[in-house]
Amino acid sequence: MTTEIESILVENRVFPPPADLVKQANVSGMEGYQALCDEAKRDPDAFWARLANENLVWTKPFTQVLDESRAPFYKWYPDGRMNVSANCLDKHLGTPAENRAAILFEADDGQVTKVTYKELHARVSQFANALKSLGYQAGERAIIYLPMSIEAVVAMQACARLGIIHSVVFGGFSSKSIHERTVDVGASLVITADAQMRGGKSIPLKDAVDEALAMGGCDAVRKVITYKRAGSDVQWHADRDLWWHDVIQGQSTDCPPVAVDADHPLFILYTSGSTGKPKGVQHSSAGFLLWSLMTMKWTFDAKPTDVFWCTADVGWVTGHSYVAYGPLAAGVTQVVFEGVPTYPDAGRFWKMIQEHKVTIFYTAPTAIRSLTKLSEADPKVHPKSFDLSTLRIIGSVGEPINPEAWVWYYNNVGGQRCPVIDTWWQTETGAHMITPLPGVTPLKPGSCTLPLPGIDAAIVDETGEEVERGKGGFLVIRRPWPSMIRTIWGDPERFKKTYFPEELKGYYLAGDGAQRDKDGYFWIMGRIDDVLNVSGHRLGTMEVESALVAHEMVAEAAVVGRPDDTTGEAVVAFVVLNGPLPQGDQAAAVAKQLRDWVAKEIGPIAKPREIRFGENLPKTRSGKIMRRLLRVVAKGEPITQDVSTLENPGILEQLAQVR
Ligand code: WT7
Repeated sequence: MTTEIESILVENRVFPPPADLVKQANVSGMEGYQALCDEAKRDPDAFWARLANENLVWTKPFTQVLDESRAPFYKWYPDGRMNVSANCLDKHLGTPAENRAAILFEADDGQVTKVTYKELHARVSQFANALKSLGYQAGERAIIYLPMSIEAVVAMQACARLGIIHSVVFGGFSSKSIHERTVDVGASLVITADAQMRGGKSIPLKDAVDEALAMGGCDAVRKVITYKRAGSDVQWHADRDLWWHDVIQGQSTDCPPVAVDADHPLFILYTSGSTGKPKGVQHSSAGFLLWSLMTMKWTFDAKPTDVFWCTADVGWVTGHSYVAYGPLAAGVTQVVFEGVPTYPDAGRFWKMIQEHKVTIFYTAPTAIRSLTKLSEADPKVHPKSFDLSTLRIIGSVGEPINPEAWVWYYNNVGGQRCPVIDTWWQTETGAHMITPLPGVTPLKPGSCTLPLPGIDAAIVDETGEEVERGKGGFLVIRRPWPSMIRTIWGDPERFKKTYFPEELKGYYLAGDGAQRDKDGYFWIMGRIDDVLNVSGHRLGTMEVESALVAHEMVAEAAVVGRPDDTTGEAVVAFVVLNGPLPQGDQAAAVAKQLRDWVAKEIGPIAKPREIRFGENLPKTRSGKIMRRLLRVVAKGEPITQDVSTLENPGILEQLAQVR
């Protein structure tokens, strides 16, 4: 590990919180924030106990808050029992929330469906009863491969209601990804749709499931339930396949929630690491839900009257914490969107904010950057052509938001009235960790500002010692928190090694480099490992390399990230073919073939933006690929580093030629 993380340009504009927000926010003013931080510091157990008692409904109250006896395998509220779905739905029944819209679903074609909390409760119960009648029980694992839909939320909530552990696979991932995850979790159930509709096109989903299950090792799968979304043709396996509309036929809309232990796994979600296959991040029931809910209230200042819209897909953690669970637990109305931001045109987001009167909007920097370009090129799709006056808070997640994008978002979407809430967190943290609070924190564009109360974030060196302000280092969390990852499914050793390395005093290592400025504000500087961030999604360089090498033409491959204006980072692959170096048109044709191959192996998101061919790769004398140098080559910059340790210095020149 290295602490030589270059410091970045520090922005010095400061935007104070709007006065009206300070007045009415759930956490009000710096004093309000400080009081919570002090409470958490004084007696962490008492703080986390109070939050859990005041915000969750328990079927059996806990008597212990945190069990550290097997650290880092922490247990939160170990003897408490509860149900997540009951905490999202049942608790609203018989209250004014029951007739409030829980979901405003907007389909790709613009059609809107409204579901109240009472109706959603009935739909979740009915689907849960269907699963129950098929013999599914608490502790079994279900793969969910669904488009953004009411059904996706229903499927996740129904699993939670029965204690079935779900693992959602993003609809843009390939059959190979479904296969890997199905085998790794030992799934007994798959829930999918015939197809998904995006940008006016139908993209098959069940076909990919069929392909995945035919790859072998998936014998635990008893049933595949398919939701008919597009009415497209599907293959049918009579012994295994069931239609969603058939299984819910005649099922009661009353299904008692199954109480589970606080730490019963709610879900497993796969995310990329620098080495090896994706990691199955295991999350708990109570701790995960508590922090999803608290951050709805604190970070987004959610009130029952809010219309909340998080644009993330349920295939990512953001779609777990801030679509499927947090907003429902908070009792807000939320928008769920099936389509893409550029269809029928790039004004879609703004039009939807206007029509649904969205008050809290949460999206990713990559979306902001691409819509900035399109909006500035065409006044018809510019946010200024829409009435966005209902917005109160606008959020960002997934990667550092560069100051230019921040200011554009603030001026044009937020009308210089809404704070930009730049939330730093990860799949592993379950919910927000370092973020401004709308009625508290003066904002600096590009900084995720300060840790939430109870979150002990710090920047340390390789021995775990805190570094001085202004110096770069590793971002760590020094104390456990309820929504933290519990383990990597099936690989506790990897969990320990990756997140709690011995030399770091038992701290949680986030894998990001960061620094704090003189005001204690955190500035994230990017990953310290070989993980790329493409459009706010993590991709392991190893994963893309393995996919490339799996192609018969490829002998060797190295993958690095190159800064990109729109997607944050772009994938650049350096490839050595079996056979002669391709030239001209032939090189272009092979590159295209390999890009499509990666899309098929992993998913379109992993497609290399550029492929460069060489006779070999720059390696040290011990045979290690010098990715650091390849990153420089990928940027098109001259090599100024010492290359004397290279086995084959001449190769850099060859790789630097753009073909
Ligand atoms: C990595 C986590 C959190 C849900 C979506 C991504 C980067 C995330 C920010 C931010 C700077 C950020 C980090 C982090 N990241 N949010 N606000 N500022 N960087 O979840 O796929 O688990 O990725 O995304 O590098 O480690 P993920």
